[in-house]
Amino acid sequence: MLGVMTNPWLDIPLADYEGHMALPNVGQAQLLSDVFAGALGKYAPRSVAMLGCAGGNGFERISTKTTERVVGVDLNPHFIQQLRARFASRIPRLELFVGDVQTDGFAFAPVELVFAGLLFEYVDADAVLAKIRSMLCPGGTLLTVVQLPSATIAEITPSPFVCLGALSSVMRLVPPEALRQRAAAQGFGETEAQTVKAADSKEFRVQAFRLMTSKQKQAV
Ligand SMILES: C[S@@+](CC[C@H](N)C(=O)[O-])C[C@H]1O[C@@H](n2cnc3c(N)ncnc32)[C@H](O)[C@@H]1O
Repeated sequence: MLGVMTNPWLDIPLADYEGHMALPNVGQAQLLSDVFAGALGKYAPRSVAMLGCAGGNGFERISTKTTERVVGVDLNPHFIQQLRARFASRIPRLELFVGDVQTDGFAFAPVELVFAGLLFEYVDADAVLAKIRSMLCPGGTLLTVVQLPSATIAEITPSPFVCLGALSSVMRLVPPEALRQRAAAQGFGETEAQTVKAADSKEFRVQAFRLMTSKQKQAV
């Protein structure tokens, strides 16, 4: 009998994930934290939700004077447990949820900024975009980071943290143009996009989206 397929993210120790992302030749932890901090500075949201938040990379950049309410969602309960231990005392209005962003509902009030950094590689974009619609306040922003293809570096950069290799079975690069089109089909208009580079020269596309009013949709 075939065993039940479990999501490989559930078997990754946070120390291995974070160790990999912080390796000097990977540098993606720093990159994601910088993109998140840039968005906090630019949009100055009073509330933010990070989907696929792992152990809270970037949460140390949040100023609770501006961003009072912080939501984190992740599939892996151990990631959320460690995030809570790290940040509960620093962020009083921290709301954490364990679950699948494709299928589960989460009982938090809408936020002004939703951040999804390297999440769309692991989920069904249409399902998640539909969920994000109801997570955003009117006029709120969705910020995404997706990895771009590289001719020279493997999708998951080889590293001593070998367990991360298991993710390659579920990871699918999402072309930014496809994300833009799928987002548009759900009523999100792209407002900004830029390409950023990590330490190993891997490139990532950062895209900002806003929910369009029906008038704006007609004009597109
Ligand atoms: C590549 S990591 C990105 C982590 C984080 N944004 C960062 O800055 O390091 C992807 C995260 O998404 C989570 N994840 C994957 N699939 C998910 C799903 N269906 N629902 C919720 N979280 C998911 C994983 O557990 C992991 O923590």
